[in-house]
Amino acid sequence: MSKSVEALFDAARAAQARAYAPYSRFLVGAALRDETGAIFAGCNVENAAYPQGACAETGAIGAMIAGGGRRIAEMLVIGDGEGLCTPCGGCRQRIREFAAPQTPVHIAGPNGVRATFTVEALLPSSFGPENLGAG
Ligand code: THU
Repeated sequence: MSKSVEALFDAARAAQARAYAPYSRFLVGAALRDETGAIFAGCNVENAAYPQGACAETGAIGAMIAGGGRRIAEMLVIGDGEGLCTPCGGCRQRIREFAAPQTPVHIAGPNGVRATFTVEALLPSSFGPENLGAG
C-alpha cells in the first residue's frame, strides 16, 4: 500500500471501529482525501427506523463539506466479510457529485485494499452537475 492509501486505510478503519450498526452488525468505514490533501472519515449510522440509516460514505462526504472541502481526490471504503464492500447505488451518486470520472475508490477488507475502481466504473453514463450546467 502506498503511504497515501495507507493514510486513508487507517482513517477508515478508525471510523469503522466506531460505526453504529446494531441491526446489521456490519460495520463500515469510509475515508476520503479532498483537493487540499485533508482526510475526512465517516462510518455507517443505523437507526431503529431502518430506512433512516446512513452509509459510511455519506458520513465522510458530509464531514468533507462541513470541513470546507469540495472535491474528492481519492476514497477508501472498508468492510468485513469475504465480499467487496462496494458503495451502494445511492452512495455512488453521492461520490460522483464531488469526484472526477477517474477518481479512484479503493475497497478494503481488514487486511488491506482488495480492489480499486474508478468512479466511472462504479457509475457509468451518470447524471451529474454538468447536466444542470453546474460544476
Ligand atoms: N453500508 C455502508 O455504510 N457502506 C457500504 O458501502 C455498504 C453498506 C452499510 C449500510 C448498513 O448500515 C450496513 O452497511 C448493511 O447494509
